[in-house]
Order: sequence, then structure tokens, then C-alpha cells
Amino acid sequence: MGRLVIVSNRVGVPKRGDAPTAGGLAVALKDAFSNRGGLWFGWSGTVSADPPDVVKHARRGNVDYAVIDLSQEAYEGFYAGHANAALWPVFHFRLGLLSYDRDHAECYRAANRRYAEKLLPLLRPDDTIWVHDYQLIPLGAELRAMGSRHRIGFFHHIPFPPWAVFSAMPGAEEVIRALLAYDLVGVQTHRDLTGLLDCMAQGTGMKVRAGGEIRFRGRRTRFRAFPIAIATDEFAELAARNVTQPATQRLQASLAGRDLIIGAERLDYTKGLPERLRAFGALLERFPEHSSHVTYLQVAARSREDVESYKDLKREIEHLAGRINGDYSDADWTPVRYVGRAVPRDTLAGFYRIAKVGLVTPLRDGMNLVAKEYVAAQDPEDPGVLVLSRFAGAAEGMPEALLVNPLDAYGMAEALNAALTMPLEERRERHAAMFRRLQAHSVSGWAKSFLDALERPDTSDTTHSRAAALSVFQPRLLSRSAATSSDSASEESVVSHVAGWSTARAS
Ligand code: G6P
Repeated sequence: MGRLVIVSNRVGVPKRGDAPTAGGLAVALKDAFSNRGGLWFGWSGTVSADPPDVVKHARRGNVDYAVIDLSQEAYEGFYAGHANAALWPVFHFRLGLLSYDRDHAECYRAANRRYAEKLLPLLRPDDTIWVHDYQLIPLGAELRAMGSRHRIGFFHHIPFPPWAVFSAMPGAEEVIRALLAYDLVGVQTHRDLTGLLDCMAQGTGMKVRAGGEIRFRGRRTRFRAFPIAIATDEFAELAARNVTQPATQRLQASLAGRDLIIGAERLDYTKGLPERLRAFGALLERFPEHSSHVTYLQVAARSREDVESYKDLKREIEHLAGRINGDYSDADWTPVRYVGRAVPRDTLAGFYRIAKVGLVTPLRDGMNLVAKEYVAAQDPEDPGVLVLSRFAGAAEGMPEALLVNPLDAYGMAEALNAALTMPLEERRERHAAMFRRLQAHSVSGWAKSFLDALERPDTSDTTHSRAAALSVFQPRLLSRSAATSSDSASEESVVSHVAGWSTARAS
């Protein structure tokens, strides 16, 4: 079996001696690497004024890390520009925030071309390449154009809107056609798959065959949903361990017996933070009995601070948190605690465990692993309640959460009230069902099902659909959320010329 080559925009090279278990993709790919070793390639996270044109290498265990720096121009045009001011908002259905600039789009292509040029000499003929996320969509086509005949898969971690939304971005067709350079394209949920297939059909004008595939110039590209998972038992143990650590103990003591509502994410407009603060304000207004008895802790790690819309968001959140505290605080009680920086994962695990409510209400989210981690972190004997946006991918597999529409402040306030007052027996039942499902769908299973589908396309489909059936719920099962039941109950003509990083060049 050849090596596994992972390409992701940001690569955290673990410190020497550390197991690569820091979080996110590293956790997800640990097992995949452990069986065969491999290479992880991408951006070092460093911006050099004048980047030396070198790839920096490190080896940890059986994984080689190879990273490159970005020039200031690439950082601005590719990363802060096209990837995060154009693609990120359009993929999250936020056309009002879409800021398109043709020069930035060119930087995006150029950055992907440079990644491909640097990666190609590191590849062996039997490597399997797995590319991750929207920053690197054209990478497959660039590699093909340079002669790569590898198996290449792409996983899209964020939502995939339908063509009616995506086509608003100039150059949308190019982005969609570039996906045809891959052998397999994976998304998080069935909802995303519907959007992706719609974009593939309308954006390329090609026929999407039954089962979700397009054949073009001798290549077959398949499209599938692979909902990402977490290492449930490991996270549960982490939370149980950390509950006795000083940080959690100090938080617990500071609550003085009050209930804790927790939210934790990057400071990003997709996460619905202003809406969440308004909902918390609505809780205090509508259900004054909770005044002085509940504290809302919001951790919002600073992110993408060079993108204008993120600066505006920061100001808005600070304003809203200040206003709620001004309106409702007492001398000995501050309703909102706002932490504007990242909190280590193990500390957060302890915080989740003592929180009575996990508030995870993105306006759109590919999956949202905080929702899963919050559930994994709970004490099964006395679990907290998850209040979850129906627009998070995680909602497809967590019908026992209280599912809400994040734009409905009063609806969310009602869900918060229901969560804070939910009887123990009901909390246990809901938690047990979600926990069992999280255990059944492991993170190593997620990576394995993607890689099986990529490397053994003709045998893997049946296995994958079985796994997916276990992990993904159909909307008709979403009716148990008592407080929010109304919210949750329902829900070859080939393109002749392909510009830039096209599949035309690729094939
Ligand atoms: C999301 C994206 C990732 C990205 C991460 C952090 O989870 O799906 O691709 O790496 O946000 O964002 P950043 O811009 O800091 O890499």
C-alpha cells in the first residue's frame, strides 16, 4: 500500500515527542497515518516578507511534514482575499458578505499552482493524495496539469450551497469544474451533497449519473457524503479528567451555584454569535426567573483579523455583550462572560462537562464538532442539554438535541429555558441516545470510509452507505425536541473551454 499524502492549507507540525493528537484533522487522521505512514503538506502558518522558495521538512513518527511559507501578497490575495472574503462567505450562503476581487482570484490560482509545484517532487507514484477544504479546490487540477496520475480525493469541510447561491460568485464555474480533477469529492452531509450535485450539474452542464458521479475525459469523479466524527471515548475521558483540574475548579467556584451555559468557537460570522447573545438577552427578558441563576460563558477565539467582516463582527459582539451586562447585571452577578481568545482543548473539555447547556447555534456550519464534543464530555448520570442550530451539519445526526433556528431569538430563548429546566430522566435519555451514536461512528471510521471509497471505489460504496445509514438521520426522526418541535419537525454537453486551473488542462 502506498503512502497517504494529506494536503491542507494549515499544517501544525507537532512538537518533537508529542503525539499528533492536537485536535481537528490531526485527531481524525491519526489512525489513517498509523497504518501506512505518509506525508502532510501545506502552509506553515508563517508569512514571510520574502519567502525563501524552500520546503521545510520535519519527521514525527512515521509522518513526514513538509511546509511552505506564504508571501505577503499570497497571504492577502489568496488567504485573506479570495479564500476567506469570497469563497468562505459564498459557501456559507452569505452573499451580502461576498467580496470578490479578480486579482485575489488570480492569487488563489497562483497559490494553488505553487502548492502543486512544491508538492509534486515529493510524491511517489503509488501515493494516495487527500486534499482538504475550500482553500485548495484547484490543487487537484494543478497537479493533473503537471502530469500527476495519482488517486486524488478532496474533502470539503464546510457547507455546499446550491448553484442558485454559489453562482453569484464571479468565476463560480471554474471552481466547480476544478472538482472534476479529483477521483472522489466528499462533503459532510446529505444536505451538502444535494448542493454539490446541483452545482456539478448546473455549473458544468454535464450529466450527473445515478449514484452521484460524472465521467469526463476518461476520469470518473464520484461525489459522496462522509459526516466527520470525533474520538468520542477519548474526549469523554479528557473531560472527566479535566473536571478536577484547577481551571475547571476555579470556573465552578466562580459560578457560586449558578447554572452555566457555554458556547465556544472561532470568532466567525458563520457561528451566529450576535444572534446567540440576543437570544440570551431574550431569555432574561422572557423568563426573568433565570436572572441571577444562570451565567453564559462565550469563548470566541480571534480569527482572520485581517478580513474586514471579522473586525465588524468583533465590535458587534463586544457591544451586545456589554449591553446585556449593562441591562441585567447585579453587583454580584455578570450574566455574560466573554473570553476573546482560544482556550486549550483539554480545559474546554472540563468546562463543557460542568455546563448545564451547550449552546451551538451557527447560521451555517459544515459539521460543528463542538456539538459532538459537548455531548461526549457530559457526565451520563447528570448530563447537560445541547441546544443546536438546525443549520449545523451535526443536526442531521443529533435529533435528541433541542434543535433551533438561530434567527429566532425567542424560539432560542424558549429552548434555553427548556434546557435549563429539563427533568433529569429526559436529559439522560437524550444524552444516552446521542452518545451511543457518537460511539458507533468513530473518527477513524470516517477517514477509513473516505480512503476506502477513494482507493477501492468498486467495493467501498456499499460499506460506506451502511456506515452512513448508522450515522446520519433522516429528517422524519427529528421530532423529539419537545421545546422546538415546530422548528425541527420538518425540514454531456462538455464545456468547451476551461480557463486557468482547469480540468481541460488537467486531462
Ligand atoms: C474552518 C475551515 C478550515 C480552517 C479553520 C481555521 O474550520 O474549514 O479549513 O483551517 O476554519 O481557519 P483559518 O483561516 O485560521 O485556517
